[in-house]
Amino acid sequence: MDGRDPSNLRGDKITGDRYYSPEFAQKEWDHLWTKIWHIAGRTADIPEPGDFLVHNFMQESVIAVRQDDGSVRAFYNSCGHRGMRMVSESSSVDTFHCPYHGWKWGKDGTLVDAQDADVDFKRGNPCGKLKLGELRCDIWGGFVWYTMDDDGQSLEEYLEPMVALYRGYPMDTAVRVAWYRIELNANWKFVTDNFSESYHTRTAHPQVPPWIDQDVDSARHEMWPKGHGRTVQPMRPSLSDRPAGGGNAMFEAELRKWDIDPGKYETYEEFALQGWKDLKAAKQKLWAEKGYRHYEKMNDEEITDSPHTVIFPNVTISFLPDNLVFFRSEPHASDPEKCYFDLWCMAFPVEGQTEVESIMAGPKPLREVMECEHREFDGGRGIPELAGQIVYQDMELAENMQAGMHSRGYKDAYLSDQETRIRFFHEVLNDWLNDSQP
Ligand SMILES: [Fe+2]
Repeated sequence: MDGRDPSNLRGDKITGDRYYSPEFAQKEWDHLWTKIWHIAGRTADIPEPGDFLVHNFMQESVIAVRQDDGSVRAFYNSCGHRGMRMVSESSSVDTFHCPYHGWKWGKDGTLVDAQDADVDFKRGNPCGKLKLGELRCDIWGGFVWYTMDDDGQSLEEYLEPMVALYRGYPMDTAVRVAWYRIELNANWKFVTDNFSESYHTRTAHPQVPPWIDQDVDSARHEMWPKGHGRTVQPMRPSLSDRPAGGGNAMFEAELRKWDIDPGKYETYEEFALQGWKDLKAAKQKLWAEKGYRHYEKMNDEEITDSPHTVIFPNVTISFLPDNLVFFRSEPHASDPEKCYFDLWCMAFPVEGQTEVESIMAGPKPLREVMECEHREFDGGRGIPELAGQIVYQDMELAENMQAGMHSRGYKDAYLSDQETRIRFFHEVLNDWLNDSQP
């Protein structure tokens, strides 16, 4: 569907209570979070049998563990004996060992050992019979997904049409070079709203138009019945924004990287439009020689453009030519006015490169970061090293958007056409809350 055409909408109101009401948050838990597919983590983080991820989501905790046959299975992080939460963070085990009474569970979720197993259970020895609660688990894009819903859609159906859309984009080969989880004083939906439009970019991110075209007619706005959507923008200077004196450094550096002299263009239009075409041609011709292995199956659009993609309801992925940037917001366990914002900056290895531009966190060494940085945004004080970055600028807007949702003066958003996807997101959310999800 055209994501810039409001005639695709019903017109459901985006009222303020959606962002602060505990009753609304409870409805989201009951009808959305316990039904959708969640990402537990990256497959790259659990390469060996016994390696496991822990994903804590609101009051729930789930383990996803690599099996001996290479598959991944997911279990509730709750001992089958008395319900004790067994592990607190991702690690590696042969068996999950409950710290309370010492019960041991195998990687496949079966009880392998319990104290007095053969002498104190009149019902019979539970070992080999009792199992941890299991969840459906699947893999796409180098991510481990699970759902608490035993009978809902398959992952591929749920993601429709993402699997087909990005079939040539080698998501699983990207290296995570920056990894943050930031507590933010805003409802989780602020993040999805924000990533569903680029209308705010000129105001909030003035550094972006000189290298990603922000002119509304240059972009393709798409949305799909399941609630997913994307804005595809060419990675070239916008013609409406013409910075003087070095403001186009990002685009110029990109041209030079592909042996194109940015000084050869006579006009700004030619620099932006012909430069972008020349860049595409150079990449098509030189990718193998220059060691850009990840371009091998990428399509012509993916090597020069920016498909900023929101996967309903809370995941956003920027499928950039040399970076894969993952954003996610998850609700706080008890306060609907807080959320956790995940930022994973990933980059594709290029032969000979030891440092990469992470896009959202500055230049980084090209190597896997092993630890997640847990921070509070705290008006920006919690992440001083990200000051001035695009995501930091977004987070700076969050608290006052949250405050504005409480105003008696706010009744509904008055959206531009290019913000159509925001209302669509809320309409699909309403469908889930009414148990009539697409
Ligand atoms: Fe933004």
